[in-house]
Amino acid sequence: SSSGLGTEIVSVINKLQDVFTAVGSSASQIDLPQICVLGSQSSGKSSVLENIVGRDFLPRGTGIVTRRPLVLQLINRTATSASAGSPQINGADKGTDKAANADEWGEFLHLPGEKFYDFGKIRDEIVRDTEAKTGKNAGISPQPINLRIFSPNVLTLTLVDLPGLTKVPVGDQPRDIEKQIRDMLLKYISKPACIVLAVTAANTDLANSDGLKMAREVDPDGTRTIGVLTKVDLMDKGTDVVDILAGRIIPLRLGYVPVVNRGQRDIETLKPISQALDHEREYFENHPSYKGKAQFCGTPFLARKLNMILMHHIRATIPDIKARITQQLQKYNAELLSLGGPLGDGNAGNVVLSVITEFTSEFRTTIDGNTNDLSLNE
Ligand code: GDP
Ligand code: NA
Ligand code: MG
Repeated sequence: SSSGLGTEIVSVINKLQDVFTAVGSSASQIDLPQICVLGSQSSGKSSVLENIVGRDFLPRGTGIVTRRPLVLQLINRTATSASAGSPQINGADKGTDKAANADEWGEFLHLPGEKFYDFGKIRDEIVRDTEAKTGKNAGISPQPINLRIFSPNVLTLTLVDLPGLTKVPVGDQPRDIEKQIRDMLLKYISKPACIVLAVTAANTDLANSDGLKMAREVDPDGTRTIGVLTKVDLMDKGTDVVDILAGRIIPLRLGYVPVVNRGQRDIETLKPISQALDHEREYFENHPSYKGKAQFCGTPFLARKLNMILMHHIRATIPDIKARITQQLQKYNAELLSLGGPLGDGNAGNVVLSVITEFTSEFRTTIDGNTNDLSLNE
């Protein structure tokens, strides 16, 4: 089916991304599709990502919590699982707060071979490695953490959680913190292959949204920016986001999705994510402003929309990725010849080359076979 096809292509791209991250500098020459969150500090970026995954594992809360980019690959394992149905996020599913589940685990690139079945431990490791690289006092670093989540309950997506835009330095932050964060974000969001999730809290003025402003700088035509409106539940009584959704305030070509995440008290009382997603659905279904269009509101709709846009995007960028890989392969082969030998003599450089070659041929087979009939999931 077309949905399996999309999953296959994205999983090959995910593998390539790991390889290129592992080999270092050449990674920046190949821009694989991914989705980045962009917005002010505490606008709800990490909460949105966590809801999309459907599991509690990201550090989040008031203040600067996300201090390094987190490259998060969600990999749907439906194809290899006997019992699973069509891919869906946990939010569309019930009873997904079970602690350990043999079907779902995380793996960090910096801890190869170690499987994390306890998502609380994933969060601990993100915090530990963040502090190891940035200290405890609000420092930031552009060095990414790479994490893969394998699960039958996620859509296959690559997401990047990023520090929020901030203006006033706190703790050990340098005086030019605003510029440092902007530069870090620009590295991700200016790539044409990046789909930007511009997050704005609905209880703040859209016209002042730092995320939307910055997204417009890198994507003036709005071909790869989706608006996400968080904290809809915290809006003043009698106000709503209907005008924004209808494109009457700041129109976005790909539109906006309103969501309701857990509030700070929900985080403190460990409110389970399934309850939070039930609450979100009930909120939109019962609210007089949204009940007529509840199917276009909330986290499950956002996840479906993201998957669809990602597939479109991959299809559009495949020719460019192919050309770049071919170019790099030619370059490596030439270097290899000048070193006087074929692959496989145990030399460390050659091991890297053979890994790239293997993934590239896998990638090429998939793309060559499927470019023409890759179609959307819905
Ligand atoms: P980030 O800094 O943009 O990653 O934001 P976080 O996801 O860490 O959230 C910041 C704070 O806002 C936390 O206390 C969240 O509980 C709260 N929050 C985020 N989204 C919502 C929402 O939709 N509704 C409510 N009531 N609180 C939210
Ligand atoms: Na925060
Ligand atoms: Mg965050």
